[in-house]
Amino acid sequence: MKVAVLYGGTSKEREVSLSTGKGIIQALKKLGHEVVDIDFNPKQLYVIMDRIKDVDLVFIGLHGKQGEDGTVQGLLELMDIPYIGSGVLASSLAMDKSKAKQIFEMHNIPVAKGKTYSNQASVEDVHDDILNTFNLPIVIKPNQEGSTLGLSIINDQSQIKDAIDLAFTHDFEILVEEFIKGRELTCAVIGKRGHESALPVIEIIPKSEYYDYESKYSAGGSEHICPAQINEEITEQILNYSVKAHQVLGCETYSRVDFILNENNQPIILEVNTLPGMTPTSLYPDAANAVDMSYEEMLEKFILLTIE
Ligand code: DAL
Ligand code: MG
Repeated sequence: MKVAVLYGGTSKEREVSLSTGKGIIQALKKLGHEVVDIDFNPKQLYVIMDRIKDVDLVFIGLHGKQGEDGTVQGLLELMDIPYIGSGVLASSLAMDKSKAKQIFEMHNIPVAKGKTYSNQASVEDVHDDILNTFNLPIVIKPNQEGSTLGLSIINDQSQIKDAIDLAFTHDFEILVEEFIKGRELTCAVIGKRGHESALPVIEIIPKSEYYDYESKYSAGGSEHICPAQINEEITEQILNYSVKAHQVLGCETYSRVDFILNENNQPIILEVNTLPGMTPTSLYPDAANAVDMSYEEMLEKFILLTIE
């Protein structure tokens, strides 16, 4: 097949996407596909459209805004080119953490207590409202961002204003949530719409205090334990919540659902990633590996799920 791989892009997760793209391109070539390799720059949209108009399929290896958020999916819909993964609405919803949380709550998937603030309010007002609403520690993060960019964990009141400023450099809305102490878990979902299943749960043990950008993308920055050492009941709960979260947002083909298992052994959903990382340190390929699915087999499965 002739497959275009879009990677790179202009979001703050560009570096991650370069690595994702490299992995995908190598694997598709190994599988014998003809690859059209495109470092995606929206400023060269017309040139890109001309290069992809006759491909059989597009693999979107982009992360973050203008890639994972439904915009590129919309372009491909308009061009009538099949692509792997979630469509416009599911991609946009998953990228908007606050909207996604509202939907999870409606479907009884436990979420962290949180509140969204827009940059229309002054930093002072946001600061004061945070103190009235939450007990520390809290997490302050951009509403639409990935890879923990712009995220701060606040233990002390004096750190709040800088954290608000930082999060607003990434997005016009920020999300403040109670900090949940617990274990970091993630679960990969795969399958045709309505027939999805979840791969074994992974526990992430970061080498640093938190699972931050550094521990996500540096070799040896974190340890992935798959299957996670959690009891059957919690495992079952996480597998069910993962498939449900994927479905209620309307995701397609694959996604990765992140959780914190709190100290009462209650899984709390953090988010759904519609274009999870596919880098050498990424989680989704590790979950596939745990069921003896190689990186190449995983990509071939995504292709089959899309075209069949
Ligand atoms: N946002 C990154 C790429 C991930 O979730 O894997
Ligand atoms: Mg993410």
